Amino acid sequence: KLEKNELLQKKNEEALLGGGQKRIEAQHKKGKLTARERLDFFLDPGTFQEIDKFVMHRTKDFGLDKEHYLGDGVITGYGQVNGRLVYVFSQDFTVFGGSLSETHAEKICKIMDMAMKNGAPVVGLNDSGGARIQEGVNSLGGYADIFYRNTLASGVVPQISAIMGPCAGGAVYSPAITDFILMVENTSYMFVTGPNVVKTVTQETVTAEELGGASAHSTKSGVTHFACANEIACLDHIKQLLSYLPQNCEETAPVYPYEKQEDESRPVLDELIPDNPNHPYDIREAIAGIVDSESFLEVHENYADNIVVGFARIAGRSIGIVGNQPQSMAGVLDNHASTKAARFVRTCDSYNVPLLVLVDVPGFLPGTDQEWNGIITNGAKLLYAFSEATVPRVTVITRKAYGGAYDVMNSKHIGADLNFAWPTAEIAVMGAKGAAEIIFKKEIAEAEDPETKLQEKVDEYTAKFANPYRAAHRGFIDEVILPSQTREKLISAFAMLENKVDKIPRKKHGNIPL
Ligand code: COA
Repeated sequence: KLEKNELLQKKNEEALLGGGQKRIEAQHKKGKLTARERLDFFLDPGTFQEIDKFVMHRTKDFGLDKEHYLGDGVITGYGQVNGRLVYVFSQDFTVFGGSLSETHAEKICKIMDMAMKNGAPVVGLNDSGGARIQEGVNSLGGYADIFYRNTLASGVVPQISAIMGPCAGGAVYSPAITDFILMVENTSYMFVTGPNVVKTVTQETVTAEELGGASAHSTKSGVTHFACANEIACLDHIKQLLSYLPQNCEETAPVYPYEKQEDESRPVLDELIPDNPNHPYDIREAIAGIVDSESFLEVHENYADNIVVGFARIAGRSIGIVGNQPQSMAGVLDNHASTKAARFVRTCDSYNVPLLVLVDVPGFLPGTDQEWNGIITNGAKLLYAFSEATVPRVTVITRKAYGGAYDVMNSKHIGADLNFAWPTAEIAVMGAKGAAEIIFKKEIAEAEDPETKLQEKVDEYTAKFANPYRAAHRGFIDEVILPSQTREKLISAFAMLENKVDKIPRKKHGNIPL
């Protein structure tokens, strides 16, 4: 019996070593942690339960029948993050470069199936050379089994992908289907085809980092939601992200303890909007004055920064925020901003996270670049995403809400629950000057002094429309509030909406303009 126990002990020790000490050292030399070290840091101490530790590949080709490693290049199981259940897989680059074999894929699928049955998030720590080349189509089949499960799990349990090394070829499509991607700067990259293939096909010379590093994907493509300075920061970010999300689509996010203060007013917000309506300000300052202190986690921070999205808490409740950013391109909606915000709105709606929308938008960006790249379709995504969202939805118009963008940005007409406006709000078809030039064109042209006439008409239009009162008279705005009152109002609003029940018509699924 003792011998049998010793055998188990030996196997356990062997599994812990992955591809062996030498390869572990090589991993460290690259500035990377091993798959197990990552899990040790990520999960609450002592909570990790490993599954399939002794699984081995079944390949016989190319000498692989003589090369086996317990676990086959991926560590899978479940544990806890801040006391909450989470399923994990962590690819082990020391075993065949973390490459994905049929059995490696089966292990990942097993924990994904468990996560779906038991309603808890799946976190994948990716570090892999792609398909196990010696296995051919068996490996490709394994990928597809994962993609399929990613898709079925989408909107059921949160799925988070951290890229902590290579992620190339077909491998990119599992993270791409998940809810969030995080990349580590300088040690991770993602691309469909690498620099060599790029060189052959397009004659472009580009490094892996330039082509698909964290910087490229957090600023140029928007593929990654977060670019993290190092692996520890990345794992911390995932923990933080999970804190805003429920375990599954049937639940709501945890509410943090919060004691309401007697005075929740924030006078600093009364000073935020510049006197000149064409001057910029940072919408993040409005956010900071509204949400619980230090609670804002920005998503897609460096991509399409004319719109700001992210999670925060208000009186302990998790909310998702979408805000036009007047400081970047005057907060205009363009292709990237529209898709970025639409995706975020749908993520929040999938997981019952209420939405707060801060509006200061001069309209959609004109031009051939925008039109030819589909601003009609992309703008429609955002309109559609808001319209179908059934979570509590609250809007605050801080300044401009012009034209179609007024409708799109969570207006009352498309189902928002409560719409507030600051006294500085201008809710109109367009800016006063543009409007006056069009509707009084003839009158201005025929005037003795066209300049004065134009100004007169601009003033007239401004007096009529550059305010929130027309909309408030119609009930399109529920209340005009002082900026300093916003936090108080929103605490009450989200508490009031806590048990909101709303349904969209029964259908197979909608057909969002993609
Ligand atoms: N299948 C099987 N083994 C693989 C592999 C794969 N896809 N990718 C890497 N490996 C193995 C290597 O043979 C090497 O094995 P060893 O430790 O026994 O020497 C080990 O993993 C580490 O790879 P190495 O190339 O030394 O690491 P690196 O950090 O220099 O480079 C990659 C990493 C991912 C860039 C490189 O391994 C690579 O290009 N791999 C192939 C990628 C690919 O084309 N995948 C298939 C298409 S999806």
